[in-house]
Amino acid sequence: MSVALIILAAGKGTRMKSDLPKVLHPIAGAPMLHHTLRAGSALEPAHTIVVAGHGSDQVRASAMDFDPSVQVVLQKEQLGTGHAVDQARAALEGFEGDVVVVFGDTPFLQPDTLTRMVEARRTHDVVVLGFDIAELQPRYGRLVMDGDRLIKIVEYKDATEDERAIRFTNSGLMACDAKVLFELLSEVTNDNASGEYYLTAVPELANARGLKVTAVKCDEAETLGVDSRSDLAEADAIFQTRARAQLLDSGVTVMAPDTVYLSFDTVVGRDALIEPNVVFGPDVTVESGATIRAFSHLEGCHVSRGAIVGPYARLRPGAELAEDVRIGNFVEVKNATLATGAKVNHLSYIGDASVGEASNIGAGTITCNYDGVMKHRTEIGARAFIGSNTMLVAPVSVGDEAMTGSGSVITSDVEDGALAIARAPQVEKPGMARKLFEMLRAKKARQSRGS
Ligand code: UD1
Ligand code: MG
Repeated sequence: MSVALIILAAGKGTRMKSDLPKVLHPIAGAPMLHHTLRAGSALEPAHTIVVAGHGSDQVRASAMDFDPSVQVVLQKEQLGTGHAVDQARAALEGFEGDVVVVFGDTPFLQPDTLTRMVEARRTHDVVVLGFDIAELQPRYGRLVMDGDRLIKIVEYKDATEDERAIRFTNSGLMACDAKVLFELLSEVTNDNASGEYYLTAVPELANARGLKVTAVKCDEAETLGVDSRSDLAEADAIFQTRARAQLLDSGVTVMAPDTVYLSFDTVVGRDALIEPNVVFGPDVTVESGATIRAFSHLEGCHVSRGAIVGPYARLRPGAELAEDVRIGNFVEVKNATLATGAKVNHLSYIGDASVGEASNIGAGTITCNYDGVMKHRTEIGARAFIGSNTMLVAPVSVGDEAMTGSGSVITSDVEDGALAIARAPQVEKPGMARKLFEMLRAKKARQSRGS
């Protein structure tokens, strides 16, 4: 059975107090919308439709960034969740199969839960996802059940005292045959306490037609919705707790797990060691047996077996570290490959560069990659020795087994095996230092007498 996924993301998210649309706020390095899209992709949907409204241009760009085949439809006015789903009607004209509706602001949705809903659809016409709440809250609609049958969903505002006491509540997700859903949506009115076209009116309308309506249950944690910055922080914290536990579980040593920040896609191999206070931005892979020392910041990079990074290192996008590479304190690496055993141990910037096998980059070395307009590359060969405080003015190359003298400003290529020195030659003046000291001390003495 083919599936169309509809993600509702038109709401303003007023309580976020933000210029950024709510669904684009990040959790663990990815916009909430991407978390939802990722969960939804487990259904291998034939259509994925995002209903955007507030900040729709930004939402469209972000959706395209995830997957260019995602369709974005506009809901000009936010007249309710039912009205929002109805905006996908034209895009799904002629589509035969199931529609699964999810909210863009529920980032913890598990692919497995979506699969269970689609499975329940085989025996029922309408399937709603519900969860039992520990504490009764007005924010959720109540599911009125009769055994397995879902009689109706009542929004809190419209509910009786008895209904408000029901703990089985609506997550907002729904699965239904496309044709049936759009027929039922045509019957939805805004005759309720909020004056909105509720998607939650659908189950009752389905029952009126004698269709089979049921609810599937999931954990409350999975349906956690984000409405405020405090919800966002809480959601991120929950994500971190889970991701850290998974890392430990998979055989990684994490010295102070609560201080390590992970992204949605962080990959760390077994027997790697992560010291305290390390931040993993998106797109980082650390192989087995590598060590990331304290206070390092990594994003968009790959660290191979046996490499040691930090403390206080920064790996930016495009940093590729081969086996046994050493990156020490206050070293920044960007868009650069370091071959096996290369060392950059102190206070350096290596950007738009390649460093050959077993080369040693001395303290304070900088690849001067930017001329104010364009970026240029630095190529360093194998077993080269770059003296401390060398400025490599790119584009420039240093050959295999070549050396640069400390403090050199290297502006032209250095051939294999050569030593390049590019600095003012040393001048020595015997006795001059003592003379200078005497002069200066005498001057100071005159000044203090005069004052
Ligand atoms: C909704 C449900 C409620 C459920 C709760 C779970 C309805 C009527 N109520 O209430 O039963 O317990 O979610 O969190 O469905 N949206 C649009 N366009 C609109 C309105 C909403 O795209 O016109 C989007 C929002 O951006 C959001 C989602 O739909 O992603 C849910 O809307 P929201 O206003 O948060 O609904 P709730 O009042 O929380
Ligand atoms: Mg909500």
